[in-house]
Amino acid sequence: MDVYDSITELVGNTPILKLHRFGEGLNSSLLAKCEFLNPGGSVKDRIGFYMVEAAEKHGLLKPGGIIVEATAGNTGIGLAMAAAFKGYKLITVMSEKVSKDKVNMLKCLGAETVVMPSGLSRSDPDHFMNKAIAIAEEKGAWLADQFFNGSNVEAHYKSTGPEIWKQTDGEVDVLVAGVGTGGTLSGAGKYLKEMKPSIKVILADPEGSMLKAMVEGKEATSSSYLVEGIGQDFMPGNFDTGLVDEVISVSDRASLEAAKQLWEKEALFVGSSSGCIAHAARQYAIAKEKENKALNIVAILPDGGRSYMSTVYDPEWLAHKLPSS
Ligand SMILES: Cc1ncc(COP(=O)(O)O)c(C=O)c1O
Repeated sequence: MDVYDSITELVGNTPILKLHRFGEGLNSSLLAKCEFLNPGGSVKDRIGFYMVEAAEKHGLLKPGGIIVEATAGNTGIGLAMAAAFKGYKLITVMSEKVSKDKVNMLKCLGAETVVMPSGLSRSDPDHFMNKAIAIAEEKGAWLADQFFNGSNVEAHYKSTGPEIWKQTDGEVDVLVAGVGTGGTLSGAGKYLKEMKPSIKVILADPEGSMLKAMVEGKEATSSSYLVEGIGQDFMPGNFDTGLVDEVISVSDRASLEAAKQLWEKEALFVGSSSGCIAHAARQYAIAKEKENKALNIVAILPDGGRSYMSTVYDPEWLAHKLPSS
C-alpha cells in the first residue's frame, strides 16, 4: 500500500510549479516552490519538527515539557503539530501585527497565545521576542528561538536545498527568498551554492524592513508595512548575509498586486510574503532579460492565503490600511 506512517513524513517534499502565466513573456522560467502545501500550511512545518527533535536529542526538552516561541504565527503552527504529536505544551508569543486568523488557528491547535503590542523597539521588555524569553525563564520551558537556533538553518540545509537541487536536476540558477529568521534563505542558499557556486541568492525584502540597508552596509531605519512574516527591524542570528547577491525591495502594493495575480493567473491562493517574493523573482527576470539571459529562477512561496482572510484579503481592512487599493 502507498501509505505514510506519520505526519512527520508529510512535511517537505513540496512540488515546484512553473508560473507560465505570471511569468508570461519572459525568457526565464519562474519556478514556485510551493511551501504552502505543507500539512500545517507553511514552510515552517519543516522547522517545527526539526527543532523539537534536535532539542530532544540535546536533552533540552523532556517528556511533557513546555515549548515557548516568539512567532509570526507559522512557526507556532509548525510547533503546535510537533507538540500535539509528541505530547508537549506550547506557548506562542506574537506581536499584534500577526493576523487574527493565525492567532485563532493557534488557539484551535491547543496553544496558549500571548499577543504583545507591535512597533516596539527590540530593547523594550514588551517586545514579543523579549516577552517569550521572560515566559520561558519563568516557566522553566524550552525556548525554540527560531531567530538564533541553528537547527532552523540546518532543517533547510538538509531538506529545502536538496529538494530544489533534485527537482531542477541541478539546473537552478537563482534562488529568491524572503527573510524572517533567515532559516530558509541561509539553509537552502548555502546548500545550493555549495552544489553550484554560480547560483545567485536574491533577498526579497518588504519596503520598511531594515534588512536591505543592513545587507548593503548602509544606515538602516525601519517603518511599518503590511506584508507578514518577512522583513525585520533587527539582524536575526540565523541570517547569513554573505550568501546574498542582491536585495530587491518590494512595496506592500506590489506584493499584494503580485499575490492577486498569482490567484487570477495561476489559481494559487497565497499569503503576502509569497506575493513579495514572486514579484521580486519576476523583477529579477525582467532585469536579466536586458542581458538576454534565460534563467531558472526558484521562488519560495512560504504560506497560503487562508491565514490572511481578516487582513490583506479583507477589502475593508485593506482599504483602511492601504488607501486606494
Ligand atoms: C509567512 C512567512 N513567510 C516567510 C517567512 C520567512 O522564513 P524564514 O524565517 O525562514 O526566514 C516567515 C517566517 O516567519 C513567514 O511567517
